[in-house]
Amino acid sequence: MSDNTVYRRLGRRLRLAVIGGGPGSFIGAMHRQAARLDDCYELVAAALSGDPERSRVAGSGLGLAQDRCYPGGQALIQSEALRADGADVVAIMTPNDSHFGFAMQALDAGFDVICDKPMTNTLQEALILHQKVQDTGLVFCLTHNYTGYPLVRQAKAMVLAGQLGEIRLVQVEYVQGGRAKAGPGRKAWKEDPVRGGPSLVLGDIGTHAHNLLRFVTGLEVAQVAADVGCIVPERTTHDYAGALLRLSNGARGSFWVTQAAAGVENGLRIRVSGSLGSLEWAQEHPQVLHFKPLDAPAQVYTPNGPGTLPLAARASRIVAGHPEGFHEAFANLYTDAADAIAARRVGQLADPLSLHFPNATDGLHGIRFVTAAVASSQNQGAWTPL
Ligand SMILES: NC(=O)c1ccc[n+]([C@@H]2O[C@H](COP(=O)([O-])OP(=O)(O)OC[C@H]3O[C@@H](n4cnc5c(N)ncnc54)[C@H](O)[C@@H]3O)[C@@H](O)[C@H]2O)c1
Repeated sequence: MSDNTVYRRLGRRLRLAVIGGGPGSFIGAMHRQAARLDDCYELVAAALSGDPERSRVAGSGLGLAQDRCYPGGQALIQSEALRADGADVVAIMTPNDSHFGFAMQALDAGFDVICDKPMTNTLQEALILHQKVQDTGLVFCLTHNYTGYPLVRQAKAMVLAGQLGEIRLVQVEYVQGGRAKAGPGRKAWKEDPVRGGPSLVLGDIGTHAHNLLRFVTGLEVAQVAADVGCIVPERTTHDYAGALLRLSNGARGSFWVTQAAAGVENGLRIRVSGSLGSLEWAQEHPQVLHFKPLDAPAQVYTPNGPGTLPLAARASRIVAGHPEGFHEAFANLYTDAADAIAARRVGQLADPLSLHFPNATDGLHGIRFVTAAVASSQNQGAWTPL
């Protein structure tokens, strides 16, 4: 990631506008920092809060020009579209129920879009938004940021290169403890099915786990048999989902996500087994990828270490042995999207290796999965096609 392809293609940085991610938001700062890491974007405009006055004050606090600290997302999109020096890209990091509306408005106004997950709250919205992206030809990046880790990309590249043989089994789990105690969480909107979506745990972290499985294996979930509910007494929103999966090539899978495992922090983990060997990666130790080949000693891959494949090599900014983490992985999505956006704007082809960032098709698959898992659970765990 040393070469700034945006400068090479456009002769300037991309102008970025953000909607959401104001004071109190964890992910807003991550987006803004990710955008800056490789110097591909400059932040020019923001609507940081749903409250007009707080939005303006927060924008000033980031050093933005007064006339580009907008009271809301719609005003930002309308005004930036009219400016000669207006934003090129709109990034959306608001509560889930507003992703669809802001993304549709931004695409209609000609902006490339970076949007946080889940892409939408309903399958109908996901279908419409996916179609809009195809019709406009604009870039749409969905920030399933865990796909940006160098060793997740190494895992994908090893599967693609056939090093695991035929994939037969996948286990993915995302275990957190933030909702282990009864009572409402810090963010009330997440508990509201209209704002947070039909399943809190599936929208919040289930879509990440599902996307990671698809990213690494290149397979789709064809059918799901799920049990979705709450493991903490008194809670009514989903804090747990367990499921068996049948994958598109006939492989079997298991999926286990919860936000109510007391004491656990951010345990996203994937294991993939093929006819020639098995891989294992865990987010809390992202610098190691275990590979256990059939009939040969176990191996450990490290970022930029021996055996690093090109898709993974470009995801590291530093020589082997120097830790990189969440910020850098998040930035890899921003930088890859920047190359696609800059290439589109000047009528060039993007670097094929930059095109692995999650997009609207991935977002649609994620919402299909949530919808099918909830339906399966409501039907006593019956096998349900996606
Ligand atoms: N990719 C990830 O790993 C990750 C992690 C956390 C959250 N998220 C996603 O990011 C989104 C926000 O989550 P969060 O945890 O930061 O929520 P949050 O409630 O902490 O923050 C939301 C922010 O958006 C602002 N906001 C609300 N409505 C708005 C509107 N209409 N216009 C402009 N700003 C508005 C709020 O003022 C707040 O600053 C969610 O979709 C969530 O799923 C993704």
